[in-house]
Amino acid sequence: MKTAADTFDVMKIREDFPILHREVHRKPLVYLDNAATTQKPRQVIDAVSAYYSEINSNIHRGVHYLSEKATHAYEEARKTVQHFINAPSPEEIIFVRGTTEGINLVASSYGRQNIGEGDEIIVSAMEHHSNIVPWQMLCEEKKAKLCVIPINDEGEIIFEEFEKMLGKRTKLIAVTHVSNAIGTVNEIKKITAMAQQAGVPVLVDGAQAVPHLKTDVQNLGCDFYVFSGHKIYGPTGIGVLYGRRKLLERMPPWQGGGDMILSVTFDKTVFNALPYKFEAGTPHIAGATGLAAALDYVSRTGLEKISGHEQQLLSYATEKLLLLKGLRIIGTAKHKAAVVSFVIEGIHPHDIGTLADREGVAIRTGHHCAQPVMERFHVPATSRASFAFYNTTGEIDVLVSALEKIIHLFS
Ligand code: ALA
Repeated sequence: MKTAADTFDVMKIREDFPILHREVHRKPLVYLDNAATTQKPRQVIDAVSAYYSEINSNIHRGVHYLSEKATHAYEEARKTVQHFINAPSPEEIIFVRGTTEGINLVASSYGRQNIGEGDEIIVSAMEHHSNIVPWQMLCEEKKAKLCVIPINDEGEIIFEEFEKMLGKRTKLIAVTHVSNAIGTVNEIKKITAMAQQAGVPVLVDGAQAVPHLKTDVQNLGCDFYVFSGHKIYGPTGIGVLYGRRKLLERMPPWQGGGDMILSVTFDKTVFNALPYKFEAGTPHIAGATGLAAALDYVSRTGLEKISGHEQQLLSYATEKLLLLKGLRIIGTAKHKAAVVSFVIEGIHPHDIGTLADREGVAIRTGHHCAQPVMERFHVPATSRASFAFYNTTGEIDVLVSALEKIIHLFS
């Protein structure tokens, strides 16, 4: 049966998302906080519900019917992820809780094994805290150095500075694909090409990219790629770490427990093969099946169509917002995902967020877990509207009139 995802019709797509039809403060919900988390289509809600209603069981352990069904669903979900990001094999897909956990896994395992005193890790000035703090902790432990690629006034990486930084001491580069705070889409292929010349592995934080851009890890040339399910219409608590097989095979496990072993005696434990070596304990099985349903939904809709629609929303919102008195957009990169961060002269972002909420409009305000980005642009916080493929220009009009009211109130 054809669903709305098979042809791109935004009003039909909206029908698949039950929450979009509710009211907030007696106003229709206008949900523009998609960079924080996305809403879920009924196909995802149904997949999670069907998992618990029909096949709930533990995996890789039982020979009974339900355990085999649950194991099959979990491993099929892994293959769905593999194909979605074009990873060479399912063994290179590790299920984690989310982007943060994926980065921490690499820092703990690869980082502790390969980074030593005097070594350098490069990040960019637009990273989310989750792609800063784990490396800072590692650097402190190992007496290594964290180097930061500066960004220009538009919010783009300054490649000349990156080139200067990349040297014999560089042991890892960790950069975001898309900035959650300002929307910049980074030129990952250029970064991986330069890194490859220097023989340095690259980790890409894909949390804000996978819902918006077609992601092909082989084409990007990265060594690790991480993302969260909940930002791509899937459940919370499930995420993905892709790693190149040759790196993952050499890396030690980061957590010990059930499922990550082949055998255990008090004298010696033999670790399991990939990907199980990195998945200690009972995983989020329902989450993996929900994530697979979300990726199927996105694939059926088509990332090109999604991207096209979102870029239209971005242009429309940028144009309309710039007409507002005292409004300034932070982050004006040439290549942006559908995120608009802004400040309005004389009005605190938290006031903007609270008053917009009274109109039913959900936006995020604050530092967006990217305090160094706020510092770079000399603002304490911003208001941020972030769009998904189910948003409409009509919703942007509602945001704009809410902001007009707020500006009027403060004038
Ligand atoms: N990283 C999420 C955001 O940007 C929480 O809002």
